[in-house]
Formats: sequence, C-alpha cells, structure tokens
Amino acid sequence: MILAIETSCDDSAVALLDPDGKVIFSQISSQTELHKKYGGIVPELASRKHLTSLPLLLRSAMESHRLDLKDLKAIAVTYAPGLIGSLLVGVNYAKTLAWMLDIPIMPVDHLEGHLLAPFLDNKEIHFPYLALIASGGHTHLIHAKKLGDYQLLGKTLDDAAGEAYDKVAKMLGFQYPGGPVIEQLAACCPEPTIVFPVPLKGKKTLNFSFSGLKTAVRNEAIRQGVFVEKQRLISFEEYLIISDEDRKKKIADIAASFQKIMTIIITRRMDEALNKTKLNQMAVTGGVAANTGIRASLKRLGEKKGVRFFFPETGNCTDNAAMIGYTAVQHLNAGNLRDDKLFKLNAASKSPIGLMDVKV
Ligand code: KG4
Ligand code: ZN
Repeated sequence: MILAIETSCDDSAVALLDPDGKVIFSQISSQTELHKKYGGIVPELASRKHLTSLPLLLRSAMESHRLDLKDLKAIAVTYAPGLIGSLLVGVNYAKTLAWMLDIPIMPVDHLEGHLLAPFLDNKEIHFPYLALIASGGHTHLIHAKKLGDYQLLGKTLDDAAGEAYDKVAKMLGFQYPGGPVIEQLAACCPEPTIVFPVPLKGKKTLNFSFSGLKTAVRNEAIRQGVFVEKQRLISFEEYLIISDEDRKKKIADIAASFQKIMTIIITRRMDEALNKTKLNQMAVTGGVAANTGIRASLKRLGEKKGVRFFFPETGNCTDNAAMIGYTAVQHLNAGNLRDDKLFKLNAASKSPIGLMDVKV
C-alpha cells in the first residue's frame, strides 16, 4: 500500500493506492471554513491546520481498510510548489513516517499531480495530450509527451485563472473560493450583458493574462456601485436573501459576464494550441477544471475538432492526494525512484514544472 500526502496549499489530503495506482482511499480535509471570511488563504493559518488535520486523516485512512502502518510500502508527498509553511508540514510528516517505518519516500511535484489527475477517472486517456492546468496558483498549457516529459506551451503572465476567479468574487463581496460562487452567480444570469476585453487579443501567443481583465471587472463593479472593499464577505446563500433586487441583478450580470469571457479565453487558447500541436487529446485539470461552463465549452471544441476531451471528476480537479499518489506510482513503476531522498528531501515553494520556460 502506498500512502500519499498533499498539503501544498489550504487543503490537507491523504490517499491510499495499491501498487498499480488504483486509489483505494482518498480524503480531503477542507480549510474553506477557516479562510473564507478573508477572501483568500491565510498561509499561517493553513500550516497550523495541516498539523492537526494530517494525523486525523491518516487515522481514518488506516481504519478505513483496517490497516496497520506496517502495511505501508512507500510514502508519496507533495514537496513543491505551494505555500512553504504548508509544504513543510506535509514533507516533515512524511519524512518522519518514512524514517520510522524504514520505507522509501517519493517527492511529487504538485503540478505533475494535476497534470496526471485526468488518468484517475478516465481509462482511455494516454500520452501524448494537451493539458491545461488551471488552478489558484498556476495557469500552464502543457504538451504532455510522456511520463516526465512535459513541454510548456504557454502560461499566465500575471494572475492565475483561479486567482482571477477568487479576486473577482472578492471584489463583488464574496468569500473564498471564488470559482464556485461565480459559477452559481452566473447561473442566475443566463444572458450576460457586459463585454469584457479579451486579454492579449491579436497577439501570436499561447500565454494568458488576467490582470487587465480583473481591472476591467473592478472598474465595471465600481461604475455599477457594487464594488466591495471593506465589508464582510458573504456566501452565495447570503446573496440569495439580499432584498435589493437591482443590486443582485448587477452582481449576477458582472459575474456571468466574467464567467463568459473566462470561458472564451480558455477555449480559444486550447483551440490555438491544438492547431499548433495537432494533438488529438486534450485535458483540463486543476481547480478551475471543476467549472461546468468551461468544461462544456471545451467539450464542444473537442467535438468540433475531433479531439477527445478529458477532465478529472470534480473532487480530483481541486487539490487532492489521489493525484499525488498516482503520479508517484507511475514514476515508481517506471523505475524513477531514487533512494537517497529521505534525508535530503526538502520543501520548495517553486517547482521545476512551475519554472519551465515556454517553448513552442
Ligand atoms: O487546484 P486547486 O484546488 O488549488 C491550487 O493548486 O491552487 O485550485 C483552487 C482554485 C481556486 O482559485 C478556486 O477558486 C478555483 O480553483 N475553483 C474554480 C472552481 N472551483 C474551484 N474556479 C472556477 N470554477 C469552479 N467551479
Ligand atoms: Zn493545486
């Protein structure tokens, strides 16, 4: 049995996988309640919470299959990229366990975990494929050639896609995370009226940029008198009971218009990348891949181009340990495990995949 641990950001997660990479247990302890009122993650709070969540998660993993720690044959852990305090908790926990049990430890790049997450829920996907990792920290468009061989085709020049969702939600007065709330608001306004500018329009690039769009949304929210700066942030349920119908309408229209432009931006880039690479499979992964509007649009694109489209189940889009364990098992089975990791292994806020240069 392989134990996987993920603590790169705000969620603590533990998974158990068999030697073939089949997930037999996967649990996430969400910290959303802790951070939502701040409109974003508070790193110090996140690290402390991992410290108390991890032992509980490990205990439920062991109890779920009546296992003993001695049944663990290896430990996979996210070592980078992410919030350093959060990563340190997971890495140190994994190192201690690995040392105590005298078993190998496999450091996993969180981005590679997201990249391979579509394999968790789709039997048909295989290398090579085009992948968009769109999360709270990264927006990376990747040509995944084979295990460990990834070419970066484009990335965000400023904010990540998930970050844009979170910031727009916050400026409209909503709690973290912004993605799900924007989706719910967008559903209240089927015909959005605001046309936001497409970033990097007319430029020959596979990069992304969201900061100009964010400013455009901010200006529109100010213009319409719904920009929120210092008030208490609210949930979607609280929005539903706002009595000012005009304000509600304006907020939903801005959110839906933003959702629409994000869908257009992502779909266009995938289209252009498919034209360039001539790949016949594409996947979207990371927290933003949970967005049903974006998925539906990419599905249509795939159908139009005769390209198969894959995405992980919603719970495997956002951070989870199953994808970390799966990635480790693939490398382990490919003979990519080096045994000297235990003492040298450290956490890092940036990772090789996150730092790759764009090559087209
Ligand atoms: O992959 P993830 O769980 O964590 C990182 O590695 O960053 O992604 C979290 C991000 C947040 O920014 C969140 O707002 C966004 O994913 N997200 C969504 C949706 N669900 C989560 N964005 C758009 N639509 C969603 N349904
Ligand atoms: Zn992530």
